[in-house]
Amino acid sequence: MVSLVISGGQWGDEGKAKITDLLSEEADYIVRYQGGANAGHTVSCPQGLFKFHLIPSGILFPGKTCIIGPGTVIEPQFLLKEINGLRELKIDLNGLKISPLAHVTMPWHTVLDKATDTVGSTGRGIGPTYTDKAKRVGIQVQDLLSESELRSKLEKVLPKQNQVLIQMHELEPFDLEEVLKQYLSYGVELKPFIDDTLNLLYDARKAGKNILYEGAQGTLLDITFGTYPFVTSSNPVSGGACIGAGVGPSSVDYSLGIFKAFCTRVGDGPFPSEIHFEDENAVKLRQDGKQWAEFGTTTGRMRRVGWFDTVLARYAVRVNSFTGIALTKIDTLDQFDEIFICVGYRHKVTGEIIQNLPHANASLLEQCEPILQSFPGWKANTHEVQSWDELPSGAKKYIDLLSSLLEVPVVIVSTGPDRAHSIIRKQLFVQV
Ligand code: IMP
Repeated sequence: MVSLVISGGQWGDEGKAKITDLLSEEADYIVRYQGGANAGHTVSCPQGLFKFHLIPSGILFPGKTCIIGPGTVIEPQFLLKEINGLRELKIDLNGLKISPLAHVTMPWHTVLDKATDTVGSTGRGIGPTYTDKAKRVGIQVQDLLSESELRSKLEKVLPKQNQVLIQMHELEPFDLEEVLKQYLSYGVELKPFIDDTLNLLYDARKAGKNILYEGAQGTLLDITFGTYPFVTSSNPVSGGACIGAGVGPSSVDYSLGIFKAFCTRVGDGPFPSEIHFEDENAVKLRQDGKQWAEFGTTTGRMRRVGWFDTVLARYAVRVNSFTGIALTKIDTLDQFDEIFICVGYRHKVTGEIIQNLPHANASLLEQCEPILQSFPGWKANTHEVQSWDELPSGAKKYIDLLSSLLEVPVVIVSTGPDRAHSIIRKQLFVQV
């Protein structure tokens, strides 16, 4: 029996979906603990290429219980599209469970997100939905099952939202009766999946099941620990699994951090080791024109790219108490004569050398310039390699260097998009 949390160590898009998919085979329960349809998870597996936004990708394995947890926010229309897409592909959805406590992204949340965005959001209504949750005026999944409950909440919240839409943004108001009818119909469609996920998880742990908690986004987008204010509105860090799923810290055995072998970021905000998007190294890292090029799964935006940043990675290790690391996309570096690693920051004003950040707020990172260390490229193939011994010695040295700078073992190396393209150096679902 092992409970394992997977969280992103950078700005999201580290390849969490691939690692989650890889580990899901041995998990009995897979739980998404925060975020909403802002996430985009692409999984390549024997059945084909799948893009997930809300449903844990573990659903591709028959017999698994896949939970969309209490800490998530759900846009029902979006979720139903995902459910129906999987149904059409004859994927078994019996194991899908949705927490009644998750909050619902209402149509005005999406409209307001687009009208008020200042950080390059995905436009999926995430910020406004979590705002209403914190303001204690949010609508929860369970409210979609009761006409009287939903009506009374809408009567409280909708007139105020309409006032904001009309007076502050010159946008169209929403009609209460129409919204009520529409969202009750979503409730009817989602009802078979809504379940008591808290007791399901408690019983699963008691019965000795393997549980995998799956975070979306990444540490540097965490609302508390990320590059604030250029962050999302939830807690992607490993601790977020406890509050987002409804379990205590004693229920988690292993914290796996996912890092890409370089860095990427979508949206605005500081990125100390960033390479100008037109630089030839940026073009190579982005792999323009290739199937797995660095373009957002959710928004299609071109990702910003840069070298591996050990200062931010060490910070992520501390914030998440990572026990092990999965390093992805190592094969992208095969083509370089020279690779760079950011090994420290120099404060632009004081000249101070920074190795360990007190926090990652945008105001501090904007004052930092990266200290880059050159590393010789290995110029040999790692793509689709499946064992440590077959890796070129330069690639092994790069991985070992990152591991020693972060003081955490690299337990999985991903060398390509498919499940098989993985080097597993430690079996994680064995008792720790
Ligand atoms: P929001 O989560 O849509 O509010 O967006 C806030 C910030 O997080 C923006 O910079 C987004 O680009 C970024 N973001 C949100 N979700 C993801 C993700 O799944 N991967 C990468 N960046 C994300």
